[in-house]
Amino acid sequence: LSACGGGGNDTASDSGMNLVTEGTLTVCSDIPYIPFEYEENGEYVGFDMDLVKEIASGMGLDIAIQDVGFDGLQGGTVLAAKQCDLGASAMTITEERQKNLAFSDPYYDSLQSILVPEGSDIAGIEDLAGKKVGVQQGTTGEAYAREKAPEAEIISYPSDAELFPALQAGNVEAVLQDLPVNLGHTQEGAFTIAAKFETDESYGFAMSKTGSEELVSAVNEQLAALRDNGKYQEIYDKYFTE
Ligand code: ARG
Repeated sequence: LSACGGGGNDTASDSGMNLVTEGTLTVCSDIPYIPFEYEENGEYVGFDMDLVKEIASGMGLDIAIQDVGFDGLQGGTVLAAKQCDLGASAMTITEERQKNLAFSDPYYDSLQSILVPEGSDIAGIEDLAGKKVGVQQGTTGEAYAREKAPEAEIISYPSDAELFPALQAGNVEAVLQDLPVNLGHTQEGAFTIAAKFETDESYGFAMSKTGSEELVSAVNEQLAALRDNGKYQEIYDKYFTE
């Protein structure tokens, strides 16, 4: 394991990683996506954000985090344009995305879910037929809704920050999104999870499809170290209490 400490002045060690800014891990995300990434007291925090901060510091790098939206990040254009070194955005590792992106080892397993107002008659995927269903653009939730609920009227929103308010306002009758995020929204009012789907999704950190071999292995090395030293569990317990 690399023994370099924090600081970001260890430029010799990151020369092979082709970083956007030497000495800094430049991270792109789509914020907010609670509990994975959100802003608190002027700082980006959350499960992903805490993990990448530990990863950067373990690599002896500073960190810079940019909020760039999800669609371009998952499609690979943001990383191909060298806007950042790594995407940390609760991003599911999919075969489709692997055509345009390199992924770290998986760091979190997730499910899909339907969020509805309490008292809704929607109880399963088949009940979405003829209903207005909100999804976030470019997500696996959007793909799932389009595939499994072809009779629904699917409305895509660029961010979860618009998606949930659309449900609150009654502009959509259900939201199909990752379970942990929908679960968080049940704390914000009279909303409930109508159904969960075991879609076998694992999140990974995304990197450029080309020239990122060294970065990918360094990130995997740090992830393994965080699992070994208990730090991963500590961060997990901070954001997932169930
Ligand atoms: N896990 C889902 C996907 O990969 C949704 C991720 C959305 N992430 C975000 N930060 N908005 O498509």
